[in-house]
Amino acid sequence: IGGSDMYRQQILDHYKNPRNTGEIEDPTFTHVGENPMCGDEIRMDVVLSEDEETIEHVAFRGDGCAISQASASMLTEELQGMAVADLRAMDRDDIVDMLGVDISPMRVKCAVLAEKVAQDGVDIYFDELDIEKTMTEDDD
Ligand code: FES
Ligand code: FES
Repeated sequence: IGGSDMYRQQILDHYKNPRNTGEIEDPTFTHVGENPMCGDEIRMDVVLSEDEETIEHVAFRGDGCAISQASASMLTEELQGMAVADLRAMDRDDIVDMLGVDISPMRVKCAVLAEKVAQDGVDIYFDELDIEKTMTEDDD
């Protein structure tokens, strides 16, 4: 059995039994993103640690093809306990490595959908914090 068979099995397993699905009550933030190629959406709830430097808990839900769902499931497993800075530094190569199979250019947007949702969610959350801080400073 070649390495990529093992990875294919793993993708199928995550697709059939996705980890960390559902909702989190009272998350630090929630973000929804769609794959512009097909309109499939993934929603992610994220809980950050108190110092907001670490991801404590992630859950996702949404539709999509096997690659997008398996990628979301595998990513949510990696995200638990990950530093926010490490999430921000992830790129498509990390996702392709995580999946361990060749992804055709057509399917790259499926593969990176969950990663985009997580990163955009973090960006928006911290941007809004900055805006709030600026507004509070202006009030003084
Ligand atoms: Fe509104 Fe992400 S969906 S901030
Ligand atoms: Fe929609 Fe892959 S076809 S996420």
